[in-house]
Amino acid sequence: MIIKTKRLVLREWRKSDIDAIMHGLNEYDVAKNLTTPFPYTRADGEAFIEKHGTHTSGDYHFAVTTIDGTIIGGTSISINDDGEYHGGIWISKDFWGLGYGTEIWTARAKFAFDYMGADALINGYYDFNDRSRRMQSRIGGRDYGVKTNYCPALGVDVREIVTILTKFDFENYYASIDFTYELCD
Ligand SMILES: CC(C)(COP(=O)(O)OP(=O)(O)OC[C@H]1O[C@@H](n2cnc3c(N)ncnc32)[C@H](O)[C@@H]1OP(=O)(O)O)[C@@H](O)C(=O)NCCC(=O)NCCS
Repeated sequence: MIIKTKRLVLREWRKSDIDAIMHGLNEYDVAKNLTTPFPYTRADGEAFIEKHGTHTSGDYHFAVTTIDGTIIGGTSISINDDGEYHGGIWISKDFWGLGYGTEIWTARAKFAFDYMGADALINGYYDFNDRSRRMQSRIGGRDYGVKTNYCPALGVDVREIVTILTKFDFENYYASIDFTYELCD
């Protein structure tokens, strides 16, 4: 699947994207908010593309590019064994603070509710990750619980705030914004 927004394109990952993934995920300030390997090796990138490079009905990992094709990060939405819709997002530090996170998170939620048929999305953020907290609450996410997660970049267990975004809350938010969303096969 391909999703187009006003400034971005979300598409399947390709082997040729591995350098961009390594660049983004080897940035400590990015990795300390994630569970991705650190340092992130070429073999990690190859294994990731092998596993998630092709979309299947319950597993969508998207490379995110600007309109000119520059990779800025990635996002995902997958259904786990408990039937929960979950996933994540990362953006290369060079592109933070431009509203891209909110644009991607909105497009991803629209896709999950409209195309995948989700009723609610379960996400999370480490308790020190203000940007992610704000990005998630901006589109209707609410704090829902707490769990502990190991963060490879920090080398310790961290406190993760679990969040829920319901279809109802997202649709209220979506109705209040002027958003460009186009889904293509
Ligand atoms: C989290 C992340 C995706 C946000 O992307 P982004 O493009 O920088 O986000 P946006 O520009 O849309 O801004 C999101 C919010 O952060 C706020 N923000 C911007 N700079 C900030 C700062 N220095 N401190 C705290 N919040 C900040 C924005 O104002 C916005 O909140 P608002 O809507 O209430 O104004 C990005 O920082 C990232 O990839 N971080 C590393 C990986 C990560 O944390 N992933 C999420 C794991 S849960």
